[in-house]
Amino acid sequence: MLEIKRLGVLTGGGDAPGLNAVNRAVVKSASNAGLEVLGIQDSFDGLIEPGRTRVLRPKDVTGILRLGGTILGTTNRGNPFAYPMSTSDGNADYSTRVVETFHTLGLNALVVIGGDGTLAIAHAFSKRGVPLVGVPKTIDNDIVGTVSCFGFDTAVNFATDAIDRLHSTAEAHHRVMVVEVMGRCAGWIALYAGVAGGADVILIPEIPFDLNNVAARLRQREAWGARFSIVVVAEGAAPIGGKVSLIARGDQTTAERLGGLSASCARELEKLTGKETRHVVLGHLQRGGTPTSHDRDLATRFGGKAIECIMAGEFDVMVASQPPDIVTVPLELVVGKQKRVPRDFDLIRTARAMGISFGD
Ligand code: F6P
Repeated sequence: MLEIKRLGVLTGGGDAPGLNAVNRAVVKSASNAGLEVLGIQDSFDGLIEPGRTRVLRPKDVTGILRLGGTILGTTNRGNPFAYPMSTSDGNADYSTRVVETFHTLGLNALVVIGGDGTLAIAHAFSKRGVPLVGVPKTIDNDIVGTVSCFGFDTAVNFATDAIDRLHSTAEAHHRVMVVEVMGRCAGWIALYAGVAGGADVILIPEIPFDLNNVAARLRQREAWGARFSIVVVAEGAAPIGGKVSLIARGDQTTAERLGGLSASCARELEKLTGKETRHVVLGHLQRGGTPTSHDRDLATRFGGKAIECIMAGEFDVMVASQPPDIVTVPLELVVGKQKRVPRDFDLIRTARAMGISFGD
């Protein structure tokens, strides 16, 4: 079996609360087991350019458990297999350099903490002979093979708190408030925060909507004497037969940027109902701040399991939560897929039974 003396850890993709808890668990567990850990800056970029790594010892990760962001830095633009260059030559493949740097640094294994994009890159490097373990990270909760990811609980708690606050101002002004949450092509944040926050309407990407149905629901509430309403929209939701709302298109190295749905919904709903309507985009606030205790625990378990895998020589896998256990799933079963909300999910059925509209 491969002798492991030195491993690298990197964080890739959008940040999520709990990344530092994983960094800490990786460094502490590995160091206590006699392994040296190199922190790699800014995802795989840190293996393309020299001088972007540093040795991390337990004292370097003391006190970071409750910090949002990542002490390693991250990027959701870098793909070493299609790296954007500032020359007219266009994109270049830097993957060979990454593999060479991995060996030059004397690394025997990598812990790659990231979302679907980063994990896909990790799997490609695994196929090129780099022994590595993936750790799933995303507030969107859309990674297959794991019931949950750290960051999701913190994002849902933040969004729920925001909806609570919007309730009081909506009620005072007899307004409709439209709240836009993140989640890309999955409606997990909207669904969980919407139900927890007592929303009247929840629009998610998995269920195309018709604003006439939403307006009918709002009028119905008015008829009951409920003079305010809360509409939660996932950034990736779309009208029946329509398209998602984009801020910017994606390309080979950059994901498309979703956004703007709450503004158009608010405009349209105001016309359809005659009710004064405002919109709020929670945006990156959902990714910031201190992780919840749930996310700290999950992140710590993932970090600890990743080191167990490395010491056991188990590679090309992702650690995953399948309660009550933390297990491993082959990366090839994870990459290129998305975990979306099933239309018959119990929380959707219950929400419908309670009168929450999904606009369909
Ligand atoms: O994947 C996490 C996420 O926050 C999505 O919910 C959102 O669509 C996207 O990242 C935003 O990315 P950026 O930070 O590049 O704007």
